[in-house]
Amino acid sequence: MNIIFLGPPGAGKGTLAQLLMKEKGIPQISTGDMLRQAMKAGTEMGLSAKRYIDAGELVPDEVVIGIVKDRLQAEDCKGGYILDGFPRTVKQAEALGQFARIDVALNIALDDEVIIRRLGGRRVCLKCGGTYHTSTLNGREDCPACGEKLVQRKDDAPETVKNRLSVYAAQTAPLIDYYQNLGLLKTVQCEPHATVDENYAKVQKTLGIA
Ligand code: AP5
Repeated sequence: MNIIFLGPPGAGKGTLAQLLMKEKGIPQISTGDMLRQAMKAGTEMGLSAKRYIDAGELVPDEVVIGIVKDRLQAEDCKGGYILDGFPRTVKQAEALGQFARIDVALNIALDDEVIIRRLGGRRVCLKCGGTYHTSTLNGREDCPACGEKLVQRKDDAPETVKNRLSVYAAQTAPLIDYYQNLGLLKTVQCEPHATVDENYAKVQKTLGIA
């Protein structure tokens, strides 16, 4: 199954995509993670992406379209994949339609005030890619999975989060109608206090894999 995870920043796309990846044995392809890896490696592409990411703006379409097109050629994508954070503009969606067959676009929906609270407490592991929230870490500052020191993403600063939400509303939310019109859209409405497991159960039910 080839799935897109749509939704605003901080809705839980990455967290839920990782669970689905483990259950179905298909890769989670996160353009955000790939761009951050390129930044960390100091590649030319990573360095040029940095100023957009740090400001909460979108990286130019041509850059991300090229990354995803290459990644989908890999052997591990043959049995399906989860696109997490791509496409994010109508132009990206149109390009994707030229080189991939999508089965479902899953819209992970969550209210803005919950998003702002969540992103303020998010901590990530740059070594293994784990994502946590301070409310579940009990003061711990290292990664429960690999022991690396957890860090806060620069674009999780409150002003940048506000900008990311505006960018989402202007440039990415139109994809809800886009995939609705293609008959591919399914929505998972996440309640403010629902646990990750409760939200994942909704994902399974919506995808018909429960
Ligand atoms: P990206 O990394 O894709 O960021 P995003 O879409 O803004 O999404 P996030 O990673 O912030 O959130 P998420 O929905 O995955 O939530 P998570 O599971 O972490 O992109 C970053 C930047 O890269 C972009 O701004 C842009 O510059 C660039 N970029 C990337 N793709 C691009 C593209 N296609 N085109 C152009 N530019 C692109 O959860 C959030 C927090 O909530 C975590 O702390 C988590 O532990 C916690 N949490 C999750 N579920 C629950 C729950 N049920 N209860 C309590 N806490 C929870």
